[in-house]
Amino acid sequence: MHVLHVVGARPNFMKAAPVLRALGRTGTRQTLVHTGQHYDTNMSEVFLRQLEMPEPDINLGVGSGSHAQQTAHIMARFEPVVLEQAPDLALVYGDVNSTVAAALVCSKLQIPVGHVEAGLRSHDRTMPEEINRLLTDQISEFLFTPSCDADENLRLEGIATAKVHLVGNVMIDTLVRLLPHAEEQHNDGVPERYALVTLHRPSNVDDLHWLREMLLALSDLSHDLTVVFPVHPRTRQRIAALGLQAALANGRLRLLEPRPYLEFLALQRRATLVITDSGGIQEETTFLGVPCLTVRENTERPITTSLGTNVLVGRDIARLRTEVRRILNGGAKRPSQIPLWDGHAAERSAAVILGLKRIEPRPGFSTVIAV
Ligand code: UD1
Repeated sequence: MHVLHVVGARPNFMKAAPVLRALGRTGTRQTLVHTGQHYDTNMSEVFLRQLEMPEPDINLGVGSGSHAQQTAHIMARFEPVVLEQAPDLALVYGDVNSTVAAALVCSKLQIPVGHVEAGLRSHDRTMPEEINRLLTDQISEFLFTPSCDADENLRLEGIATAKVHLVGNVMIDTLVRLLPHAEEQHNDGVPERYALVTLHRPSNVDDLHWLREMLLALSDLSHDLTVVFPVHPRTRQRIAALGLQAALANGRLRLLEPRPYLEFLALQRRATLVITDSGGIQEETTFLGVPCLTVRENTERPITTSLGTNVLVGRDIARLRTEVRRILNGGAKRPSQIPLWDGHAAERSAAVILGLKRIEPRPGFSTVIAV
């Protein structure tokens, strides 16, 4: 069996790494395609290195652009690769533009698609990722879900339960494996108590009025608690547009470049609290038992609010302040363990993939597989 993996953006790497390792141990033939959606060293290369991923076999080098441009470029450059490689199965990860673009190409070439991290829904179609999730799940043959709420979402959308495999959270596999290495990291110059912040969603950073309000609130917070803020390239551009960079750098509000995986994991692990709009960080903080305030109106990861440490504060600075105070006064939520977030989700995914049996190839196409 030949499995082709497609990654493109930072959050894909920690999900693909354990699946590559699990399939690698079984001697499965694998090809890794990087679309090049993320291309800065500190958004891509350093992650591949720290996660001990193989060098991508093919890099499509698509870079940035509007959603249509980026998606179209990935599709046009990926199609000849699929035709040449003729894999038996393509695995796509998460919810970025690379995920849906690759899934569309493969499904039209009748290459079965497996979606790792299927079934998550924010029920907010203004989020580009929600569109990517909905479409990818509809055209995937194998849906690997992280939690039972995802299975229920897929059932409600009419997806056959035989296609759905509840395997757990592959991103937590990477966390479990690398946490001991993260513990060895020194976060130089970071005090014992601090708030860790990440913001990059268009809904937060493309609205400059709202972004300004949030940045000023963080600046205020930094008088009580040091704020460590690794800044995504998109957000850095917006802060520059507001002309706020100098005003914000007050010594207790630290604007940093995006951090490598191990260093960021160490920062999360030791943080007093995390303020974020990321998806993955809601899950990682829940696993680590670190209080998390999510600056969004909704989440596609509701299990992190029902069982974990996550609180949705929405677009509400007063609420953000109240929740920060609650945590600092010892009122943080107590997490409970989430089933199947145990470091073995990729092994379960690999077992499903290896349990597939071959059927006759369609003329002109690669071997097609079925359960
Ligand atoms: C993408 C994902 C988002 C994910 C995020 C993690 C989609 C729709 N969004 O958003 O779900 O949470 O990655 O980071 O796929 N840029 C650089 N260097 C890079 C990459 C990006 O400078 O290596 C800048 C470019 O100006 C680019 C902007 O960041 O236009 C946004 O990048 P893009 O890949 O379009 O989306 P993200 O905001 O990173």
